[in-house]
This record gives sequence, C-alpha cells and structure tokens, in this order.
Amino acid sequence: MQISVKVGDLRTETAAAIVFGILEGEPLVSVAQTADAATNGAISELIDAGDFKGEHKQTALLYTRGAITAPRIALIGLGKTEDVNCEKIRQALGKIVQELRDLGLKTIVIALPHETPQEIAQAAAEASRLALYQFNQHKTEGLDKVKGLDTITFLVADKATKSVIEGSVTIGDTIANGTNLARDLSNQPPNHLTPTMLAEKAVEVANEVGLKCEVFDRAQLQEKGFRTLLGVSQGSIEEPRFIVLEHIPDGEGKDTVAFVGKAITFDSGGLSLKSGSGMMDMKHDMSGAAAVLGAMQVVGQLKPDLHVVGLIAASENMPSATAQRPGDVVESYGGKTIEILNTDAEGRLVLADALGYAAQYNPKAAIDLATLTGAVITALGTVACGMMGTDNALMAKVRHAAQKTHERVWELPLWDDYDELIKSDVADVKNIGDGTAGTIVGGAFLKKFAEDYPWVHLDIAGTAWDVKGSSYIPSKGGTGYGVRLLVQFARDWVS
Ligand code: BES
Ligand code: MN
Ligand code: ZN
Repeated sequence: MQISVKVGDLRTETAAAIVFGILEGEPLVSVAQTADAATNGAISELIDAGDFKGEHKQTALLYTRGAITAPRIALIGLGKTEDVNCEKIRQALGKIVQELRDLGLKTIVIALPHETPQEIAQAAAEASRLALYQFNQHKTEGLDKVKGLDTITFLVADKATKSVIEGSVTIGDTIANGTNLARDLSNQPPNHLTPTMLAEKAVEVANEVGLKCEVFDRAQLQEKGFRTLLGVSQGSIEEPRFIVLEHIPDGEGKDTVAFVGKAITFDSGGLSLKSGSGMMDMKHDMSGAAAVLGAMQVVGQLKPDLHVVGLIAASENMPSATAQRPGDVVESYGGKTIEILNTDAEGRLVLADALGYAAQYNPKAAIDLATLTGAVITALGTVACGMMGTDNALMAKVRHAAQKTHERVWELPLWDDYDELIKSDVADVKNIGDGTAGTIVGGAFLKKFAEDYPWVHLDIAGTAWDVKGSSYIPSKGGTGYGVRLLVQFARDWVS
C-alpha cells in the first residue's frame, strides 16, 4: 500500500472515495465546502438533517452521482474542535480507512484542510497505515477474500501546503512501517522466529537502512561472559543470540542512547514450567526486542543526529535435562551473581547481561522494554506499561514522548525498600521476590545491573499484544507498542 501527497483539485480526483474530516458543530472547512458546492449541498444536507454531526469516529458515505469524478465521499467525524489532538486524529483516520477497506475499495484520497499542522499530517499518515495492518503470513486459505487498499493519497490544494506536510507524512509512514515490522515479529510463531532467525532479520533490516549490526552466537557469548543469557538458553536446542544495532551519526561527540529489548522467542517457563494456557501467548515474549528492532529500522531511516544503540538478548526458555535449575547461581556479564529460584523469571536474567553490556557505551540514557511480568497486567491492564527508573529527568522525557504517541506509561516506585525482597542468602541477588509487588521486584532486580547510567525500564507485558478499544491498534496479536515511543524519544532528544 502506497501513501503519497499530491496537489490537486478534489473535484477531478479519480479515487474510489474522497475522505473529509468534519468537526462537530463547526462550519465546513474550505475543502469540504468545495465538495459540498460541487455536489449541490450533499454534505450540508446530511448535517442539516441531523444525520451526521461530526461526533468523533462517526462515519457517513455519500454517492456523488457524477457531480465530481470520485464516486464516493466519505465523512469522518473528528469531534469537537477543543478536543482535537493527534490521538483523536489517529483514532478517526484508523476508523475510516478500515471502513473503506472493508467495502473493498482500492484507492482513496484524503482531503487535508489548508494549513494542516505537521503533527496532524504525521498522525494521519501513521494511523492510516497502522489501521490497515493484517497478519496473514501463515494462511493458505481464504486469501482471495482478504481486502486491502492499494493507495492512500493525501490531497492538498497548493504546493506550499504540500511542501510543509510532505515530510511529516513520510515520517508518519516510516514510523508506521517500523511499528508493523514489530507487530510481524511479535506475531511470528515461535518455530518461525527462533533467536537465530531474529538475528538474521536484524542483519537484513540493518543492511536495508544502513545500521551497523553485530551478532554474537553461543560460542562468542561464552567467550565474552554472557552467562545469564546462556543460562536461560541452555535448556533449548536453539542457540541464543545477542544482537547489537547501531545508528552512528556524522561527526564526533554526539550523545548516545541505548534501547534494550527482551527477546524470549518462546517462554515455556523452563523447569518452573508454565501451565498450558499460560504458555499460549508466549511467542509474544520477544515483543520488547521487536519494538527495539522496529524503532532501530525507523532510526536508520530518519537518521537523527544522535548515536542510538539497540541491544537485543534473544533466547528460548525451555525445560530439558540441560535446563537451568531453580537453585543455580550464575554470574552476570557485569560480575554480579544471581541465585535463580524460578526459571520462569528469565526475562530479567537475559536483560541483566544486556544492561551490563550497555555500560561500555556510556549512554546518556538506556531504556529497556520487556514483557517482564504478568503482574503489570493486573496493575495497569492493557492501557499503560509500567515505568520504573533511576533518573527522574529521563522518566519525564519518556513520559513526554508517551503523551505525544499515546503509548502510555505509568510510573511505579523503585524505592530502596524493595531491594530487601531480592536479597539472596547465597548470591548477590535472587531472581524472584516473595510474590508481592511482582512488577516492581522485576524493576528492582534490573536496577542492580543498570547502575552506571540513567536508566528506565518499561514493563510492556500488558500493552504488547491483544489490546482492545483502538481503531489503529489490532485487538488481537502484537501491537508494536514501543516503536513510536522510542522513535519520538530519539527525535525529541535532538530537537
Ligand atoms: N514472559 C513472562 C511475563 C508474562 C506473563 C507476560 C504473562 C505476559 C503475560 C515472564 O517471563 C514471566 O514468566 N514472569 C513471571 C515472573 C515470576 C516468576 C516472578 C510472572 O509474571 O509470573
Ligand atoms: Mn517467564
Ligand atoms: Zn518471559
């Protein structure tokens, strides 16, 4: 599906439908006025009759019967002017493009009003692509019935507007593509996305967008001392991988930020085996890494003036005769020892090595994303991820980016008091607490391995898949949560 910007006269556009946004209780904006005049008042008739008010996400379809070239006009309600923001635009655009897709249309034009702000143009493009996402890679039947738009054209009346918003539309499109990459990875069945395959994908992405990429295999991980990652993987016949992606800007002395992702391509729990139903969604347990790879793809394309490092710790977590045991003590990359009392608390183990490895970059900020605890779903549902960290200024930056992208974050405390819960009798730290404050215990554990730089942990177990109630986020499967947030964070850092 192609998204583009074009200067033209909406009356002579040949698309299957032309879309107009309508503000509730406001006069028609000039582009809609033009369409209304050309159709002998078809739009105002609908509004005057009270059949369409422009309430947020309300839709209507009109047939133009030759009055303009396009056979259909689609109206999408944007709600009240004072309530309009980027998220309202994303929700509205997501709704209308899905409806037109489901009608079986192939080409649509979206008429943008004069002086559309750049952030609104970006949001519109972003949501359009995100809302049309489908994952059909493993279906062989019914594919002939799958519907999809071929083109979305954002129409503006003059060259000046085009030059202002074209870059924003491209940025929105690029960010949506990175998010959809993360969704694809998250949705991939675990036999189709092993740590090795994830690393191959990372190399492919890096080559496409010009990122530096290094991959460590099992032998290299042994040599370098990634013992906690190796420990998690030792029950599996699949080799672990550690993936390093880097966007290196031109010139010296640029800030470094690190994005760190948990990639358990399948989490059975290991010897602390999960129940059958508890395992069913565990192909998604690499969604943190999916977000990092998706964001790195976008970073490679948008090239912010900033050194961005993406680190991914990839492993399966399986039970077997060679699996790690509850009771094992393992030394992490940075040298701290961990008593493993539950092999199902494996995300924090692979991240311990990754966070230790991150220290060599002296990052000004490190953000890890991980589907770390079921407890965060109990605490925050699927609406926000759990944010914890060691640096208030950094958390404020993340919160700011989250407000813009509507990938919500909510802070949980990481007071020293919680450190008590992970004190071990035999090692420096143990990998579980006493069952209370499960999400914070995960954060308190990670904090031990992220002492050398400002750090934020995002527990995305609730937001990474099966999120209901949004038009542009799928209600089933991977959401790509975190890609837009990380990209916004990186772009804000240099602005
Ligand atoms: N990947 C899971 C967390 C998870 C569970 C995400 C359910 C989404 C839905 C993680 O590895 C895990 O198993 N965490 C344990 C930690 C516990 C053993 C301390 C959990 O949450 O039960
Ligand atoms: Mn687990
Ligand atoms: Zn896990």
